Amino acid sequence: MSQPQRKSAEATKPKTQEAIALLRADHRLVASLFEQYESAKTATKKKALVAQICMELTVHAQIEEEIFYPKVKKALKDKELVPEAVVEHATLKDLIAQIEDVEPDGEMYDAKVKVLSEYVKHHVKEEQTEIFPKVKDTKLDLVALGEELAQRKEELLSKLK
Ligand SMILES: [Fe+2]
Ligand SMILES: [Fe+2]
Repeated sequence: MSQPQRKSAEATKPKTQEAIALLRADHRLVASLFEQYESAKTATKKKALVAQICMELTVHAQIEEEIFYPKVKKALKDKELVPEAVVEHATLKDLIAQIEDVEPDGEMYDAKVKVLSEYVKHHVKEEQTEIFPKVKDTKLDLVALGEELAQRKEELLSKLK
């Protein structure tokens, strides 16, 4: 039997998540921010959402590149999946640079956000369907890795906020 969810307790004091749960939660958060963007009506709201999306994506990509990807590459003896993911991150950063700190000024801005969202969806799908299942079959300590990711994430976010 599964334990009942204790959402309120979780909100006040987040418990440590294993690495994959942490990364998946980041993916879900960003997906929901993109959804909110779709229905946002004002430039102010759009700008605020884009600022949060860019911040979350930047930090997420950085903790993957600094901590998660190198460990995964080594554990899987991978020469393909991780390098491709790193190249995709570079494209994500290009797209982010095109909308970060830019005033939402109409259809081209919306188009850039849309393309970023589609690209993120593609990248996330590859991580979740190709990388994560393989990682689960390794001996990597995902709880320790989760702690390391969470710590670095907090550090990076505190600098940006
Ligand atoms: Fe990634
Ligand atoms: Fe990711």
